[in-house]
Amino acid sequence: MTYSYNPNSETWWREGVFYQIYPRSFADSNGDGNGDLGGILAHLDHLNDGTPQSLGVDAIWLSPIYPSPFDDMGYDVSDYCDIHPMFGSLQDFDNLLRAAHQRNLRLLMDLVFNHTSYLHPWFQKSRSSRQNPKRDWYIWKDPSPRGKVPNNWQSVFGGSAWEWDEATQQYYYHMFLPQQPDLNWRNPAVREALYDVMRFWLERGVDGFRLDVVNAYFKDALFRDNPPRFGLRGYDRQKHLYDKDQPELLEVYAEMRQLLDSYPERMCVGEVMDGHPELNARYCGEGKLHLIFDFNFTRQPWHPAAFQNAVLRAEANLPPGGWPCYTLSNHDISRHLSRYGGRYPHERAKVAAAMLLTLRGTPFLYQGEEIGMRDGKIPYAMIQDPPGKRYYPFYKGRDPVRTPIPWDDSAGGGFTSGKPWLPLNSDYRQVNVAAQRDDPNSVFSFYRKLIWLRKDCPALRRGSFEPLIRRPSDGLAYLRRSEGQTILVALNFFALPATLRLDFDLPAQKWRTILGTHREADEEVALERTIQLSPHEVWLAEAI
Ligand code: GLC
Repeated sequence: MTYSYNPNSETWWREGVFYQIYPRSFADSNGDGNGDLGGILAHLDHLNDGTPQSLGVDAIWLSPIYPSPFDDMGYDVSDYCDIHPMFGSLQDFDNLLRAAHQRNLRLLMDLVFNHTSYLHPWFQKSRSSRQNPKRDWYIWKDPSPRGKVPNNWQSVFGGSAWEWDEATQQYYYHMFLPQQPDLNWRNPAVREALYDVMRFWLERGVDGFRLDVVNAYFKDALFRDNPPRFGLRGYDRQKHLYDKDQPELLEVYAEMRQLLDSYPERMCVGEVMDGHPELNARYCGEGKLHLIFDFNFTRQPWHPAAFQNAVLRAEANLPPGGWPCYTLSNHDISRHLSRYGGRYPHERAKVAAAMLLTLRGTPFLYQGEEIGMRDGKIPYAMIQDPPGKRYYPFYKGRDPVRTPIPWDDSAGGGFTSGKPWLPLNSDYRQVNVAAQRDDPNSVFSFYRKLIWLRKDCPALRRGSFEPLIRRPSDGLAYLRRSEGQTILVALNFFALPATLRLDFDLPAQKWRTILGTHREADEEVALERTIQLSPHEVWLAEAI
């Protein structure tokens, strides 16, 4: 079979499927219980071996692999231009990048530019004295006139965002842990140093970046107090008017975009804190960031109307040059099958995958969703994630979504020959890659079929999105249309047979099945204004 997807086109990031690797939990090649670069290299075939035997994704995003004390699991970087020895070396990284590129797999690094680790040499210098040239690289303030913290800003992970430094008698600002001081983006030298980090990785050949909390780089120049609002935890009890989303961001995005555009075929995707389509629209598109994650799906109940509304809202707010970017799960949020799976994890995994992979926009998968993983259970004594320790048992942190990938049903799940840093999920003997590889009805087989089909369908990769039901109640039906191809997607969200009544005329009467959970490929179906679906049926058909 020949595929029409051209991985070398300028728009690869609009058409390709992205896959997030959480390196510590992906695969361990040296038996220390922690995933590493060697483990990723050894499992590239799973991601894309050039045939439909593999998942077929087009790009991987690596969560941080830099040197770090791991106070926030690597999102606290102490050197932006090296690799943590637990993961390997720069040499290992180059080998991985070369091997990925040989398979047309692109690679994104995660840039955590809002803050560094307190162990970063920049901060060590900055805190060494008020006169140090790096002092102004971070955000230092005197106590308030009453001798207290400079203002009411809260840390996302709990408590005041200000930490007192005894030695130099000032506070520094940390949006996350005290071990994660925020950089001062108002200082041009800081900007230049961070752009140099981008150049360092671009020169090595990476294809782009995921930008961590990209809308928090600037804080209010006057350090005004945030107004209160109703919420449970400290951070949620304020309107964040002054500690993020400042107008200066746009200048930085323009500079970053220019830098990226000076290399061929590079891109970035931003994580916008508390993002929503109206806000994201400010930050992405021409001269700004290429993509911004739309996290709306992660907040929806399992109902077709909820998802359709989220899609319509995303579409309605797209700025010029913008492009939707959907995701169901990542390393910070409960896995979607734990949120929606209920009594039908298998079935819902397929409906959710079919939706994610056939909408107009760039889909991001999170490692493990392709085998239908759910959140693990982590006993208190084994919790590693700082907010998990702080808020247990009200919030158990993010370890449950970061448990190791089970590759098979052996003692270490094929993940490690040692003791995994977080326990394998209790169902790993059933839910693992090997068990699903040869099963044509597995969740994994379904993901690969969808992804390889998508490569061959211009309508799915770049066609228009046209919903066919105004107020969906049982399932979704929509068209994807490009020049020369029209594809119909019909999804039954529930466990009862459904008759989807369409509010619009279809552009064709006869449809040929191209993928379905309940119909054979090539089966021809005549349609008027209704579509009959079996429980949890996924049906994709092409107009003839
Ligand atoms: C982002 C990351 C999260 C991290 C935080 C602080 O939200 O996704 O894992 O804890 O930034 O860097």
